[in-house]
Amino acid sequence: MSRFDPPSWCDDTQPVTRHIDLDLKVDFGRRSLSGVATLTFVEPGSGHLDLDARGLMIDSVSSGGGEIPWRQAETESVKGDRIRIELPAATESITLAYTTGPGATALGWLDPAQTAGGEHPFLFSQCQPIHARSMIPCQDTPRHRITYSARITVPKPLRAVMSAASLGEEPAAGPSLTTWRFDMPQPIPTYLLALAVGNLDTADLGPRSCVYAEPETLKKAAWEFAEVDGMLQTAESLFGPYEWDRFDLLVMPPAFPYGGMENPRLTFLTPTLIAGDRSLVNVVAHELAHSWTGNLVTNATMNDFWLNEGFTVWAESRILENLYGQEYAAMEAAIRRNGLQVNLDQFGPGSPYTKLRTDLEGTNPDEIYSLVPYVKGFMLVALLEQEVGRERFDIFVRSYIAHFHFQSITTDEFIEFIEAELPGTLDAVQGRRWIDEPDIPENEPRYHSDRLDEVQSLAAGWDDGKRPDVAAARAWSPAEWQIYLQGLPRNLPQDQCRWLDETFGLNSGGNAEILIGWLTIAGGSAYEPAFGKIREMLSSVGRMKYLKPLYSALLSNEKTKPLARDIFESARESYHPLSVGSIEGMFEG
Ligand code: BES
Ligand code: ZN
Repeated sequence: MSRFDPPSWCDDTQPVTRHIDLDLKVDFGRRSLSGVATLTFVEPGSGHLDLDARGLMIDSVSSGGGEIPWRQAETESVKGDRIRIELPAATESITLAYTTGPGATALGWLDPAQTAGGEHPFLFSQCQPIHARSMIPCQDTPRHRITYSARITVPKPLRAVMSAASLGEEPAAGPSLTTWRFDMPQPIPTYLLALAVGNLDTADLGPRSCVYAEPETLKKAAWEFAEVDGMLQTAESLFGPYEWDRFDLLVMPPAFPYGGMENPRLTFLTPTLIAGDRSLVNVVAHELAHSWTGNLVTNATMNDFWLNEGFTVWAESRILENLYGQEYAAMEAAIRRNGLQVNLDQFGPGSPYTKLRTDLEGTNPDEIYSLVPYVKGFMLVALLEQEVGRERFDIFVRSYIAHFHFQSITTDEFIEFIEAELPGTLDAVQGRRWIDEPDIPENEPRYHSDRLDEVQSLAAGWDDGKRPDVAAARAWSPAEWQIYLQGLPRNLPQDQCRWLDETFGLNSGGNAEILIGWLTIAGGSAYEPAFGKIREMLSSVGRMKYLKPLYSALLSNEKTKPLARDIFESARESYHPLSVGSIEGMFEG
């Protein structure tokens, strides 16, 4: 027995899955998927096969038409269930008939009231990092890749979409049902399997892109994301050809727990990006960048997650700099660095969770999710770029992608590759310290622009009575506002909150990042006129990036602790299981 990925039962002495074929029915009443999954192996195999599962109810396992023996061999809180199957000689494929369990961590089941239209239910999956196993029995490790095909049967008039090529509808499965067919020809790790079902409409954005959304949101979404084809072309000019044929977008209901998820061919996005001014499209650039860094070159385990996110933040930043200029990129870098500082302060100095390469044996990766792999990772990549110069580094990145495309790599493999291609560069920037030691080394890259310096010094001078010129501040860009609010004290006297609120109408803005920046200050200051907006936000939006700081602000002030508990009690039903878990932890801690 030889396991190589801490949160998976996958054993590399056993047969490896090459293709998964799914035939599943979506039951909104029972909140379950049921049907069959057929796993085909790279080579015919025999003996033990350990699959990952979480709460799946397995009816039977069969091969070549006959049932074969299996048992649930073990259950562990992080890894989930180990399903041990006994493969007869030269087994090419196996078929499992199963139903997902009530606690399927990949699945978000939304009531009609949680959608824009309010009439139909909605289902979405979120498989990264280790939730695919709660939807499909599989070898749930990013070390291996599968292609997949699927038939998904849903109630009319709903539409199913997946991280795959859409093959359209099948002739009626029944008077009230539609079966949607999919094929995913490019091999992907299981965390990129994705499914959503809802009342979805679509609008074209370009030759390779469209946006799916509920009819109520479609128009706004199509406007907000209209620049996607330009992004795609820019990204190709930087990182090489786009290998996934299409780059479509799916706008989720607000309960979606992330900003974006890079499901191949179909990025999932939170509707909170729809600001009305295209100011939050950096998330689209980020998910697009994953098409190279993450989806082509994949972290081998979650210990190497920084390879996915650090490179992607760097790639995102290159795309945005090309499109919007250096000042914009410097602002985004400052916003991220401020966000990182919040996480560093939470973990405390010397925390192992501030290392780039982690050791997650026994740890649930969701519980230590932070900006460390993103922003510390970005900073290391940016240092490497600075060290050799942009021209050479671009060549390096293109060869890194071409060399490892459709493969999964460890941090050691990255180190070996950069040592071979750019000898000495890693050491010149103290790269090994960045990778294996906690905290942020002193040689971190710093970004300046006049706008940035001015906004930051205005915020830092708040307690000394510094205030922005009102007319000038009303004209600030969304990024300037974000940086300014990040820099203000966390707990302000009531009259100062009132001044900010009334002068700049912060409670009623359409930009979710600015609104959250303001509401965390207002919450931490127990500023009552904002309580209604805080409740509204916490009751409708499931994006963890917003829930966590807002609850944490409320919990930081004795006066607002009861409010936090009250809101959580009434809103928790509507949160994704992931969000419930992480917020519960905040109340305990
Ligand atoms: N792949 C991540 C989301 C993720 C990471 C989900 C780990 C589950 C486990 C996605 O690419 C991402 O990073 N999203 C960010 C956007 C961003 C611009 C940093 C988000 O959701 O905020
Ligand atoms: Zn990402």
